[in-house]
Amino acid sequence: MPTTATVATRTDASRMDDPNWWRQASVYQIYPRSFADSNGDGIGDLNGITAKVPYLETLGIDAVWLSPFYPSALADGGYDVDDYRNVDPRLGSLEDFDRMAHALHAAGIKLIVDIVPNHSSDRHEWFREALAAPKGSAARDRYIFRDGLGENGDLPPSDWESVFGGPAWERITEPDGTPGQWYMHIFAREQPDFNWDNPEVRDDFLKTLRFWSDRGVDGFRIDVAHALTKNLEDTLPSTADLEAQGEALYLEGRHPYWDRDDVHDIYAQWRKVFNEYNPPRTAVAEAWVHADRRARYASPEGLGQAFNFDLLQADFDAAQFRGTITKNLAEADASGASSTWVFSNHDVVRHATRYGLPAAADSAGGIMAGQAGKQWLLTGGRQQDVDVELGLRRARAASLLMFALPGSAYLYQGEELGLQEVGCEIADSERQDPSFFRNKGVEIGRDGCRVPLPWTTAGSSFGFGAGGSHLPQPEWFAGSSVEAQEAKEGSTLALYRTALALRGELQAAETLEWLDTGRDDVLAFRRPNGWTCITNFGTEPAGLPDGEVLVSSSPLEAGTLPGSATAWLR
Ligand code: NOJ
Repeated sequence: MPTTATVATRTDASRMDDPNWWRQASVYQIYPRSFADSNGDGIGDLNGITAKVPYLETLGIDAVWLSPFYPSALADGGYDVDDYRNVDPRLGSLEDFDRMAHALHAAGIKLIVDIVPNHSSDRHEWFREALAAPKGSAARDRYIFRDGLGENGDLPPSDWESVFGGPAWERITEPDGTPGQWYMHIFAREQPDFNWDNPEVRDDFLKTLRFWSDRGVDGFRIDVAHALTKNLEDTLPSTADLEAQGEALYLEGRHPYWDRDDVHDIYAQWRKVFNEYNPPRTAVAEAWVHADRRARYASPEGLGQAFNFDLLQADFDAAQFRGTITKNLAEADASGASSTWVFSNHDVVRHATRYGLPAAADSAGGIMAGQAGKQWLLTGGRQQDVDVELGLRRARAASLLMFALPGSAYLYQGEELGLQEVGCEIADSERQDPSFFRNKGVEIGRDGCRVPLPWTTAGSSFGFGAGGSHLPQPEWFAGSSVEAQEAKEGSTLALYRTALALRGELQAAETLEWLDTGRDDVLAFRRPNGWTCITNFGTEPAGLPDGEVLVSSSPLEAGTLPGSATAWLR
């Protein structure tokens, strides 16, 4: 019989010092500017997060992942970093950061911060130096500068497109006022790509990793981890040349800037830094790479874990879920990492909305949402085109399934409230996302999942802060607020709290065994401790396996599991 002494409480050293704490962690992503605003300026801040630590503790998460909080002009929501070792004054100070880290740790919650190594902002000290320095200088060599094509160099060095649309090169004005060289930016113009062949760049990021690790940060989320190293020959291939090479270009690591093999030399060096600490600092790669090439990012000699966005891109469909789960567990096993699962983050349309659309997979990338044929958010209005009720029901079922899986579950702020994407309630003039502007409104962008959280049913900015909100909150936020959900039996918040608490208790070896349900649209699996999860992806009620029902995403109907619902049994 286990005694109470053998059960680690949240803050016990045995739990906090466990080097494997990340393997099956529930990680809650905070987009700091939209979480909680402590000083009423309409922008969320670090003191706001500190004040909400009791909320996070009650939610039952193991770690917080903080999206960038560094000084930034917000040309890309903070992913345009001016200074990697500081806090944006609008969000607080380094002292506020320390207080927040301390409060999280005191509540038994680990802290992961975002590192953005592919590009800085164009206001970064080094980039300003590069602009002021002459062509060929050491200052320019920290970034990727090239002469333009054509007689006067007025054509970009290649026809490559940036991820946010428009050219991936920007021309500068030289210090003497003449039109000059071009610099590469895979993302927005305000995000110049670093030259990772330059040792100064490599050293500076090691310094940054140590800086935050020394401040008690437990892990890092690595932004576009697959883009850092480049192979840019004198004559650059055209987009058509690259496309003609098909998938092999990616599978063989031959693309000039995506997922090149030599990027792993960087992460091997970073791993040494992570291992200087006890417990070793962890890292998770954001790497949108071919599944066959993901394992190296997740290897113990590299970053240790990598996001897979496969489930996020799947329809609410039993066969797609089962295939994705099986494949990813096998992959994680082969790499020595644990798997990662995610349905929502700051880049994609919230899953409660995706699942209410006819074809969820089409809108998985928030960056892509609103493209031709997917005008629902731009023109249709939320209530008309999204089946809100079905979307939420499926989202709850999917999340409960995710929490039963072996591996780490990554949650995005607001999904525990069942929040829907905010659509046409954000006027064009209020939008912030560069993907909206660089695509001239064709892509709606990612603002809809970044609207400040509603904490209360009424009051200024629904309790987000004492002032306004940097993105407009729709009226229906009142019913989704923490206050409303706390007052409502069976709310999504209550479901998340129950499930996360049980998850912590029930996790065992990182395996699962599929059970035969006799139906193609019903999935069931058992974890090694006799904990069973069943999801009905169809519409006809499904019989339940043996066991006591611990929690269900929708009420059972006459002892059966209704459609679009998940239950856990033991
Ligand atoms: C991925 C981040 O998640 C996204 O928000 C950002 O725009 C790009 N990387 C560029 O940093």
